[in-house]
Amino acid sequence: MTGDLSIRPYQRPDAAVLSALYESAVRQLGARDYSGAQIEAWTSLAPSPDDLDGRMSDGRLRLVAVADDIAGFMDLEPDGHIDLLYVAPAAAGSGVARTLLETAEALARLSGAVRLYAEASETARPVFERLGYSVVGRRDFEVAGVAIHNWAVEKLL
Ligand SMILES: CC(C)(COP(=O)(O)OP(=O)(O)OC[C@H]1O[C@@H](n2cnc3c(N)ncnc32)[C@H](O)[C@@H]1OP(=O)(O)O)[C@@H](O)C(=O)NCCC(=O)NCCS
Repeated sequence: MTGDLSIRPYQRPDAAVLSALYESAVRQLGARDYSGAQIEAWTSLAPSPDDLDGRMSDGRLRLVAVADDIAGFMDLEPDGHIDLLYVAPAAAGSGVARTLLETAEALARLSGAVRLYAEASETARPVFERLGYSVVGRRDFEVAGVAIHNWAVEKLL
């Protein structure tokens, strides 16, 4: 990533890029912390462009990080829940998630939110902790018959 990073709202034409970004982020970044079977299970949850557009069009806040290309995206639901946070592998480790989370937090504070929360992957947990979130507990569950886990995290504003 060489260009300056900026944050803009999601637009319908982003859906295909973000759908592909979701899958590549899981396969290349999530694979650091999960087994091959877990990555296949997680990838099975990757939304199609139409599914993603539907989820992104229900009134939630949608943020897209752009540098040379789209570098990542996240959402923020009205109750403070972060459902999606994904960074392009080529842009990983350069502060994209930090910038997205800080922007969402600033907007949440302006709207009067008192709590942000998420189910953080093993990969995302240290990122959330770095941004001041606390780990509430471990969540063990199954996706497509495969045991997997993530972490409930929250930040009181
Ligand atoms: C998790 C993910 C979003 C992180 O994106 P990123 O842009 O690489 O993260 P950043 O570079 O913004 O890192 C933010 C901070 O966390 C720190 N951090 C990241 N990984 C860390 C680790 N394993 N241990 C300690 N600190 C870590 C960084 O050093 C950085 O701190 P700094 O800004 O003070 O230097 C990305 O790896 C990803 O898309 N993973 C796959 C999908 C996923 O797990 N999504 C989350 C679903 S809840």
